[in-house]
Amino acid sequence: MNKEILLPDLLHNFKREKIQKENIYSIMQKNILILNTWSVLNGIFRILRKIAGMENTIIVLLTAEIIAKIYYKALMQATSSGLLQSVCKQILSDEDAHIDFQCYTLFRLTENKKNLGRAIGRTWHFILMLGTIVVVWITHRTVLKKGGFYFSRFWLQTLLVFFETDEEIKNNSFSKNCIPLSV
Ligand SMILES: [Fe+2]
Repeated sequence: MNKEILLPDLLHNFKREKIQKENIYSIMQKNILILNTWSVLNGIFRILRKIAGMENTIIVLLTAEIIAKIYYKALMQATSSGLLQSVCKQILSDEDAHIDFQCYTLFRLTENKKNLGRAIGRTWHFILMLGTIVVVWITHRTVLKKGGFYFSRFWLQTLLVFFETDEEIKNNSFSKNCIPLSV
């Protein structure tokens, strides 16, 4: 999490990730690796993002980034396709900057809140994270297991990333080099 990054780079980075993920779904569907359950999950996340304000939107996005960090590692290890492996590798190398950016945004949105308000947000994020882990496991366990992530490992590694980001937001300790310079 130590790359200096400019806002246009970050936007380009997000766009590239969107295209890469669409390519991955297409490759996976052709190889019948998964049912198209990601579109259902994306729909649920889209609804959740619209329920409340900006803080909730960033919490939902950060939850998706955390899951992506583990899922694409599993997918890279599960597939024998060189193309899929290289796309996963690129997504994973971009993911830390995305997580840092969401941590920074969440920190800025909550820094003036009272402790109770912040605790409510963090509790909601934790509940959402737990629910997402369970849903992603139920819908994508074939790929996860093939990539070496049985439930205990998937659960543990995802929560480790979650607690790392939670600490970064709480202690204002995310990588300052990843703060977009034009913000
Ligand atoms: Fe991302």
